[in-house]
Amino acid sequence: MKLLVVNGPNLNLLGVREPGIYGDQSYAALVKLIEDTCAAEGVEVDVFQSNHEGALVDRIQQAMGDADGIVINPAAYTHTSVAILDALKAVRIPAVEVHISDVSKREDFRQISYARLACVKTIMGQGLDGYRQAILFLKSYIENMDK
Ligand code: DQA
Repeated sequence: MKLLVVNGPNLNLLGVREPGIYGDQSYAALVKLIEDTCAAEGVEVDVFQSNHEGALVDRIQQAMGDADGIVINPAAYTHTSVAILDALKAVRIPAVEVHISDVSKREDFRQISYARLACVKTIMGQGLDGYRQAILFLKSYIENMDK
């Protein structure tokens, strides 16, 4: 099994950006958490981050025929990007949406998620551990799909 983890804009600045909201762990620490979780589960993983909407769309498209599942934190594009929603729908790969913060308790403009409409689950407000939870959920979701 192979997963793709996609992170959107400003997540490369984890640890520096608004630590009161996103914590003090770096993006490198997040990548290590993802890679360690996948290694422990016997799952292959590619981790991708971009600040550019089109690059995120391109990477989702490239997952076709390659990845069995996608974990995605579209970051600010969550709330604006129909293009990312359409890409997730187009590739028809099961996807889980992750947000480090609890967006449901934040500003009104964060209450819309386009990506969510193409995701089988959303995990929010769990800090970086949300990615670990998403990987575990997606692995078992994919295994059960095959039955
Ligand atoms: C975020 C929440 C978004 O609203 C915000 O724009 C982000 C990060 C999160 O992980 O909590 O960049 O997706």
